[in-house]
Amino acid sequence: MVQNTRQSLFTSLDLGPMHLKHRVVMAPLTRSRSIQPDSVPGDLMRQYYEQRASDGGFIITEATNISLTSRGWLGAPGLYSDEQVQGWKTIVSAVQAKGGHMFAQLWHTGRASHVAMTGGAIPVSASVNPAYWEHPNHLVSIPGSWAQSSPHRALTVAEIAGIVQDYRRAAERAMDAGFEGVEIHAANGYLIDQFLQDGSNQRTDQYGGPIENRVRLLSEVVTAVASVCGADRVAVRIGPRGTWNGMSDSDPGALFSYVAAHLDHFGLAYLHLIEPRVGGSITTHPEQGAVAAEQLRPLFKGKLIAAGGFEPETAVAAVSSGLLDAVAFGRHFVSNPDLVHRIREGLPLAPADRDTFYTFDAKGYADYPAYQAAVAA
Ligand SMILES: Cc1cc2nc3c(=O)[nH]c(=O)nc-3n(C[C@H](O)[C@H](O)[C@H](O)COP(=O)(O)O)c2cc1C
Repeated sequence: MVQNTRQSLFTSLDLGPMHLKHRVVMAPLTRSRSIQPDSVPGDLMRQYYEQRASDGGFIITEATNISLTSRGWLGAPGLYSDEQVQGWKTIVSAVQAKGGHMFAQLWHTGRASHVAMTGGAIPVSASVNPAYWEHPNHLVSIPGSWAQSSPHRALTVAEIAGIVQDYRRAAERAMDAGFEGVEIHAANGYLIDQFLQDGSNQRTDQYGGPIENRVRLLSEVVTAVASVCGADRVAVRIGPRGTWNGMSDSDPGALFSYVAAHLDHFGLAYLHLIEPRVGGSITTHPEQGAVAAEQLRPLFKGKLIAAGGFEPETAVAAVSSGLLDAVAFGRHFVSNPDLVHRIREGLPLAPADRDTFYTFDAKGYADYPAYQAAVAA
């Protein structure tokens, strides 16, 4: 029977403070549906997350900005105003009412931004890399269009301390909203990743140069956020060997091994990897296995989740073999609100429509039917 072959995904798992009933996790998915201009999560988002909640299941929110100046993507929600906290409260309650659990993913976009999104402030990064904003493919969603990123500048040491405080404050707001924890977004070429990888970090101070220095911002953010929530409510998402969004490193094997081993000392809820066979939201190396998990599993003793190109069968294999504790699905959750049920029952999965990933209304968002409704239609 199909169900029995998928059994390993449907065993319980303790993750930080949560007791999960299964290991099918909803990956963070930017969907651009917060209410503008103040980036407030509203009822449409409540419907979408509630549809995807399952009893004992775990949802990580879409990337959520920690401050006005951290923004870089029109429609992404925030956690820097009271109104945003209220909006999230309603969503978290709806998910919890279905027995679900939720962490907020905290986001600073760094150089992947535009002055139209930051309230006019020049985007910031580890160092100045004109090749980034001159590249025609590094587009951001701004009011009315897609645009190349604005020119950015390097952060001063004093400003870095301020950004760490913004993360801390956003974690406090996440706790106020009822989230059970926070995931720090350190992947996909956003601010923390820009500090980690030396293609974007050419600093010569304590935040640049050797790997220990490039990891400093991530370390400081984890420490600040853990001081608010407790380390077991904090998680980190990294993209080992990730090249999407203009990223590169001279020795990614050494860098990400160091990061995983270093994070092991914090007592985090989990470490979340993105497999490099997926770049952003596109599978670029379908033939590749779960290479990041294989490299880092021996170095991180806590709970390990990975996303990136998993299908139900490969997820079962990764959990059964002990390679992963849980698997996060992105695109399958876009188009299958009842993904957990479909995987458990071996039902077919509906394909996601890329054209509506980042549009601003209900079409292609909260209107994907559950399996029973789809076959009845
Ligand atoms: C529409 C869309 C939005 C995404 N937004 C985010 C995000 O906000 N934060 C993040 O860390 N990853 C984001 N990702 C990456 C996914 O979390 C995931 O790593 C990727 O889709 C690979 O998993 P999949 O093969 O199951 O889709 C996004 C992907 C998609 C398709």
